[in-house]
Formats: sequence, C-alpha cells, structure tokens
Amino acid sequence: MTDDREPTDNAQRADNARSADNARPARASAPAAQYTGPDPTRIQSMFGSIAGRYDRANTVMSAGVHHLWRRRAVRWAGAKEGDAVLDCATGTGDLAIAFKKAVGSGRVVGTDFTPEMIALARQKSREITFDVADVTALPFGDAVFDIASISFGIRNVGDPFKAIAEMTRVVRPGGRVIVLEFGQPSGHLASALYDSYRRHFLPRLGGAVTGERGAYEYLESSAARFPCGEEFVAMMRGAARFTSIDVRPLTFGIAYLYRGVV
Ligand SMILES: C[S@@+](CC[C@H](N)C(=O)[O-])C[C@H]1O[C@@H](n2cnc3c(N)ncnc32)[C@H](O)[C@@H]1O
Repeated sequence: MTDDREPTDNAQRADNARSADNARPARASAPAAQYTGPDPTRIQSMFGSIAGRYDRANTVMSAGVHHLWRRRAVRWAGAKEGDAVLDCATGTGDLAIAFKKAVGSGRVVGTDFTPEMIALARQKSREITFDVADVTALPFGDAVFDIASISFGIRNVGDPFKAIAEMTRVVRPGGRVIVLEFGQPSGHLASALYDSYRRHFLPRLGGAVTGERGAYEYLESSAARFPCGEEFVAMMRGAARFTSIDVRPLTFGIAYLYRGVV
C-alpha cells in the first residue's frame, strides 16, 4: 500500500516535528486517533522490575519465534553493510543485535528509557552503543540514520505519535522507519485460538517465569487493544510524512511489520 504524496524535504520535516508537538493527527482513523498510550512512569518501573527475566520470558512465551520476526524486520528494512541504524525502546537489545549482523561496520545505536534494560543490553554486545533515551525526545540530529526501528515497544510508549515523528525526524530522506508490534489475528479460528492463549495462558506463563504476573497481564491486554494493520498505518500517517507505508502480517497476524519510507 502506497501513500503518493510528494517526497519528504526539510519543510516537511519541520511539519513532522510540529505534528509531533500537536501529538494527535487529523487524518488517523477514529479508533487509531483515539488511542492513548500507557503511563510512562508505570511502564518504566514495570520494565525495570522484569528486566532480569525479560529475555527468558520472551523465548518461553513465543517458543523462539520472536527471533524469526526480528530477522524478517531486518531484511524488510533493507539494512545493508555500512548503514547507520537506531533501534528505539531497544530493551535488552535483540533487534539492535540483529541489525548489527546485517550492517557489519555500520553504526548501530540502541536506546531505551529503562536503565535496567540498557544495562543488560550492554552486557550482550560491545559493538553497539546502548544509551538511556526516551523515544519521544531523541537526543540525535535530523536525518542522521538510514533506519530507525522499534520492536514490541510502540504500544508501551505514552505518546506513540510523537515517537513515530521523532523516529522519522532522525532518518534521512529515503531511509526507513520500521515497527514490529503485536496485532490481532484476523481469521476466526486463528483469532479464537490465539485470544484464548493470550488471555488465559500467557499471563500465567509470564508470571511463572518472571514472578510478575501483573506485568504480563498488562502486556497481554495492551497487545489485544493496540491498533494493528491499517489502523496502525493511519497512526503512522497522522504522526509524520512518509512517501510510502507498507504493512505485513506475521504468523497469521499475531505480529505485524510496518515500513515507512521517509
Ligand atoms: C516489550 S519491551 C520491548 C523491548 C525490545 N525492543 C524487544 O523487542 O524485546 C518494551 C520496551 O519499551 C521501552 N519503552 C517504553 N516507553 C519508552 C519510551 N518512551 N522511550 C524509550 N523506551 C520506552 C521499555 O522500557 C521497554 O524496554
């Protein structure tokens, strides 16, 4: 699916920043426009408390499938040797690490506003710069990255519109903003089965692995209500100017990949 407006230029970048300040887009579809994110202070403290067990829980709960999804994201981003990549809300750094393999000598930076997550990411790779930073106020200049990404992070951000505008601001014209996020499967059977797994099993499993069942109840319910597919594309359109936006469901729509070309 393609948005056929004129390519982004500096004036449009200024527009992006302004629409980020206004935070709410005029053009998003009703459900997407009404979306409000969670309280950032609560999110930061929740991820601070589950950080040490976050990776294990991910692997157990997705049976390792999240690694496949990350590799798809890197391929779809068109990452190549020498590219500069920013992975936002990087958590313990898995997507940043997957990008590093693709860009070789290129620079990869991972940022997250939870210091406990960043401390763990630093232990996993010394080739990547991991820093504490809020995706809604990125400490980088305009157009300095080829790719900005966020995986399973955007639904946890208090102001996702501002986050997308900021990610777009730091990417050069022709570069890509990549979002990997949970969705809701569309087929009846897949949707019923996954819904039941997500509601009844996932919080118990997450609770058993991390001892923080409440956190996994939140993660389950936030995934169930987060706009996906065309609704999330409308959010992206409302947050920033892209020359095109593509969307791709993964594993029956359990997750979605979005690619906005700046
Ligand atoms: C579910 S984790 C995803 C981590 C990682 N990207 C992954 O794929 O496993 C969500 C992350 O979003 C981060 N986060 C939420 N809001 C943020 C914000 N405003 N700025 C930066 N990071 C944020 C949290 O600290 C947490 O590490």
